[in-house]
Amino acid sequence: MKLNSIILAAGKGTRMRSLDENKSKCSFELFHKPLILYVLDAVNDLKPDRNVVVVGKGAEALAKIVYGKALTAEQKRQLGTADAVKAGMEKLNDEPGVTVILNGDSPLIRGETLKKAYEFHLANENKITLITATLNEPNSYGRIKRNEDHSVAAIIETKDLKEDEKNLNEINSGIYFIDNEVLYKEIDLIQPKNAQHEYYLTDIVSLAIKDHYKVGAFSIEDAKEIGGVNDRLDLLKAFEYLKIRINTQHILNGVSIADINNTYIGPDVAISNDVEIYPNTWILGQSVILPNNVIGPNSYLENVILGESNTILMSHIADTKIGYHNEIGPFTRMRGGCVIGDHCRVGNYVELKNVTLHNGVKAAHLTYLGDAEIDDETNIGCGVITANYDGANKFHTHIGKKAFIGSNATLIAPIDVKDEAFVAAGSTITSNVEERDLAIARARQVNKKGYAKVLVERAKSKKE
Ligand code: UD1
Ligand code: MG
Repeated sequence: MKLNSIILAAGKGTRMRSLDENKSKCSFELFHKPLILYVLDAVNDLKPDRNVVVVGKGAEALAKIVYGKALTAEQKRQLGTADAVKAGMEKLNDEPGVTVILNGDSPLIRGETLKKAYEFHLANENKITLITATLNEPNSYGRIKRNEDHSVAAIIETKDLKEDEKNLNEINSGIYFIDNEVLYKEIDLIQPKNAQHEYYLTDIVSLAIKDHYKVGAFSIEDAKEIGGVNDRLDLLKAFEYLKIRINTQHILNGVSIADINNTYIGPDVAISNDVEIYPNTWILGQSVILPNNVIGPNSYLENVILGESNTILMSHIADTKIGYHNEIGPFTRMRGGCVIGDHCRVGNYVELKNVTLHNGVKAAHLTYLGDAEIDDETNIGCGVITANYDGANKFHTHIGKKAFIGSNATLIAPIDVKDEAFVAAGSTITSNVEERDLAIARARQVNKKGYAKVLVERAKSKKE
């Protein structure tokens, strides 16, 4: 059985009230991931043959986001959800099978719910199956009208509800499994005869029923899962819900999270058992965290691969790979492109960019290392700077193993300080240092006997 998906994402999204006229609602993000990608990820659990995303407003940016994951079809004018589906159908062939249609603004749907609904659709030999849920306050959702025998009769949009329909509280998720034969036949019959003068996809239900096709509803318990994002308050509600859902899953999997409300873990992060996470910590992107790490409080990790048994305290780390048994922070910043070995110490107010630290390196205080490679067991003193930029170009620094870079040394790149070399504190190093050599590059100190007093008296006499 062929299964294709059409995801609707061409809407104007005016309720988001963005100043950027070209920003599509479905490109708004939760945990730095665009809404549309949540829907695509869920739908991919059905292993569809093809995905089509219907784009309109902000088409170019949206097409970029879904590139490689879906075909895109452009809906030139936003005439309603049925018109959007028609635009999507142009990218698909009229072949036997099922099309699942979803709204790109409903990111909370789970792949497993879609799987169950699809099984229900096939098992009941429905021609249309819609996913529904019951809500105490159905607000602006389309409502399900049922017949006396409880079969589905129609979907009615809020603005079109008659007085005696206003208490209907079963809502339409905007997710439908539709047999292609029915879809291709009925979609053209939809007319914009409603309060908004739009082509409503929801009308396909009553049209199909009129033609005696079997329509069923798959009702789900957790109505929040089908929550749509129409304004920024919805976006916030979706974020809060997703945050707790993700954290709960990690906790049940064996991760200790000290404060479920103030821990923010993205949907694509993998965390092993026996990791401890303290409040106000964000872990985002494609991060992978192995066992026995202690992270936070107040830390931010994005696309970080973290080996075992590290501590990360109050630090900001992006696009970095870290090995085992490292002590990082407080107040470390790794800006990206860093590879940290094992048993390193990267401490207070240390900034790293594009740096490889081999095993056992220590950079404990107030240091900037950029575009550098530092070999095993070297000690970087407090306040060391790799001066890697001349205003136009970036240069590389290499420091060998078991070297000692004294406090406040500045290494002007390109430079190579070789194994077991010693750079004296306060030096400005401009040429390479050979193995086991000592480099001192600072003015020699002169002590003048009793001269402190002379200076003070001279100063006083000037004041008088
Ligand atoms: C829609 C459903 C409603 C359902 C709700 C679930 C219709 C008429 N109503 O209402 O029954 O309860 O979703 O969230 O279908 N879009 C286009 N082109 C258009 C119009 C919309 O691509 O011309 C896209 C939007 O980008 C959005 C989706 O379709 O992703 C739904 O549109 P939206 O305006 O948000 O519809 P709702 O009012 O939420
Ligand atoms: Mg919506």
